[in-house]
Amino acid sequence: MTDRHDYHIDGTPPETPDNDAAAGAWPETSVVGTRQPKVDGYERVSGTAVYPHDVSLPGMLHGAILRCPHAHARVLKIDTSAAEAMPGVQVVITGSTPGADIPWYTRGGQSQSTLFDPHCRHEGEEVAAVAAETPYQAFDAIRAITVDYEELPFVIDDAEAMADGAPEVHQGGNVVGEPQIRERGDIEAGFAAADAVVERTFRTECQIHAPLEPHGSVARWDGNKLTVWDSTQGVFSVQQAMAGAFQLPTSNVRVIGHYMGGGFGAKLETGKYTVMAALMARMTARPVKIFLPREDCFTSTGNRPGNTMKIKIGAAADGTLTAIEYESLGSTGAYRYNAGTATLPTYLYRCDNVRTVDTTVYTNAGKARPMRAPGVPQADWALEQAMDELAAALDLDPMAFRLQNIPTELQNEARPPFTSTGLAACLTRGAEAFGWTPDAERRSSEGHLRRGVGFAAGMWFYPGGPPSTVIVKLFADGSANVNMGASDIGTGTKTWAAMIVAEELGVPLDRIQVEHADTGTTQFATPSGGSKTVPSDSPAVLAAARSVKNQLLGFAADQLETSVDDLELDDLQIVSESDPEQRLALAEVQMLRRRGLLLGTGYRDPNPEETVTFPFCAQFCEVEVDTLTGEIRILRFLGAHDSGRVLNRLTFDNQVFGGIAMGIGLGVTEERVLDRQTGKMVNANFHDYKVPTMLDVAAEHECLPIEHPDHEFNTTGAKGLGEPATIPTAAAVGNAVANALGVRVTDAPLTPRTILRFLSEQGKEA
Ligand code: MOS
Repeated sequence: MTDRHDYHIDGTPPETPDNDAAAGAWPETSVVGTRQPKVDGYERVSGTAVYPHDVSLPGMLHGAILRCPHAHARVLKIDTSAAEAMPGVQVVITGSTPGADIPWYTRGGQSQSTLFDPHCRHEGEEVAAVAAETPYQAFDAIRAITVDYEELPFVIDDAEAMADGAPEVHQGGNVVGEPQIRERGDIEAGFAAADAVVERTFRTECQIHAPLEPHGSVARWDGNKLTVWDSTQGVFSVQQAMAGAFQLPTSNVRVIGHYMGGGFGAKLETGKYTVMAALMARMTARPVKIFLPREDCFTSTGNRPGNTMKIKIGAAADGTLTAIEYESLGSTGAYRYNAGTATLPTYLYRCDNVRTVDTTVYTNAGKARPMRAPGVPQADWALEQAMDELAAALDLDPMAFRLQNIPTELQNEARPPFTSTGLAACLTRGAEAFGWTPDAERRSSEGHLRRGVGFAAGMWFYPGGPPSTVIVKLFADGSANVNMGASDIGTGTKTWAAMIVAEELGVPLDRIQVEHADTGTTQFATPSGGSKTVPSDSPAVLAAARSVKNQLLGFAADQLETSVDDLELDDLQIVSESDPEQRLALAEVQMLRRRGLLLGTGYRDPNPEETVTFPFCAQFCEVEVDTLTGEIRILRFLGAHDSGRVLNRLTFDNQVFGGIAMGIGLGVTEERVLDRQTGKMVNANFHDYKVPTMLDVAAEHECLPIEHPDHEFNTTGAKGLGEPATIPTAAAVGNAVANALGVRVTDAPLTPRTILRFLSEQGKEA
């Protein structure tokens, strides 16, 4: 089955929206899909929103963590006596403190470390912690702790970590597990059938999440009940981890994360700082707050691994891809994580012969964590630039080349169809909106300021699904509460939840309050990540609102002695269609008055089984490169995104612009720099680590939703957006720069130094 729900290859919509037939299809909307500012926008900009960083409790102590200054060392001896005697210091903890021997980095029952591991495998490993009356006292006290370290040989380079005799981060060699191999078809036959083959090695550097709010928590005990305020993407997963660390029933732990200042994947894991705060709170019988200094967020709270990606692709003269061979090497840092990138090359295009190998190595650096589309923007950097090269080698238009290889089913053995595939539409309609044309005219090669345009395609691999439970309450005065466990990680979760309730019940947005991200008072949700909050939780919100509506109409039907089918909910009045004189205001519904409120519970139903649902995207950009200085100016950007239904057009746009900014970071400005002499990060601050500013992103940017509600997938028809928004960005810049220079710069970030190096190596300096 092909093209079943797809836009045509030229981007025109399907004639029959199959959606109407799908069960639970959502009809015309009047609130959903409009541009709505965040329901908590005032709180956020006025400073009245209480982020975990703002939490201040009576009697609260402030914690600080002493970290290993070496890339690789063993703690021989710790002397905390001077710190303990300092003013304001209430407690000092180390690995030998009773209760501190907590296993860490555990998988499959095996732990790689402990809360305070005397074997420090990277700069920034936790050695001791202090709680004092003020933050300054705490930071002074950790400096008074004396530690004898035995410094060990270290390795910080991915390739060097693989070499014989490299220092071992863990016993047994630095390769993590076995290299992961995926294979289909016959790769040799595929290359034999190719009329052109391109082989290149691409490199991306390690990127740091750099959320504006640092990582941190406040912990307070009431008897054996623990309450934690945490800057997290998922309160229920922190609850689980804390219950495990302190051997408590899950119900004894309450985790609250009403606001949080960004995570991008770095706040999916429970932090050691959370456990340390709780431990010191229990020892002192006072609340303890630990928020990390910015430097610690750079060294010790995760990153997107740097990757070296060797790609070889071949195609026939007519543009049919015949073979893709792909090898990726990435570093997880000091503890186990998958630094693989091969998913995208395996699945983005239809191709019968594919072989990919993912190798992950340990190095003496901070552990990698999931970061906005883990592995995918790196692979896109390699694959989509190689696709442009191959199109050029075959003298094909790079757009037509891609359109010829669009998949409408997952490229694995079973070939399950996608419920919707907007990839072709993202490319063609994006090109039209951006004004992209295949001719060389677009490139101006006069003087030292060279302009170029480029684009790249992408897809994302995580659809979302159950579990999710949501409660909606409707009061007799026509106001409503939404109660859901999901964290709003800055994306506007609360706002679309309110919009869905407004849509279904007719309650104005300013009369809806959203309670969320509190394990003590809200419903179960999985962490917000994987671009799955909308597709996982929006159907549960809709189901809860529908439950309220059904109850309301049922009670009204009884009262009016008519049938439910005869009733409509219109402007918070229940109206009889057969006899418009028959109407009830909410406050006149007796059962509502008797109960005080109507409460509806909604659950997320499972996804369909025989199909697969993914979001798709394509981004376009125009750049100007100065061949004298190597500087890049990003002039224009357009993101075309098939994420199914758009719930809130304003936050949809914002998500796309934010993703593009982050992708410009990966492609142009950001890179963790480790010193080869010491293994230490030399740019662990916002001055030297260059997150893009307003001057680095495009002055003109546009978001083009390819809106195609996917009701075969779920009842709201929405797919994810957060990660797709950053997937093709860097590759689009790479292609634009190659278009401008006529030189392929394979190494990200495209700093002036790198641009000039490639220009001089390829003899094209101005
Ligand atoms: Mo993310 S890496 O889905 O928080």
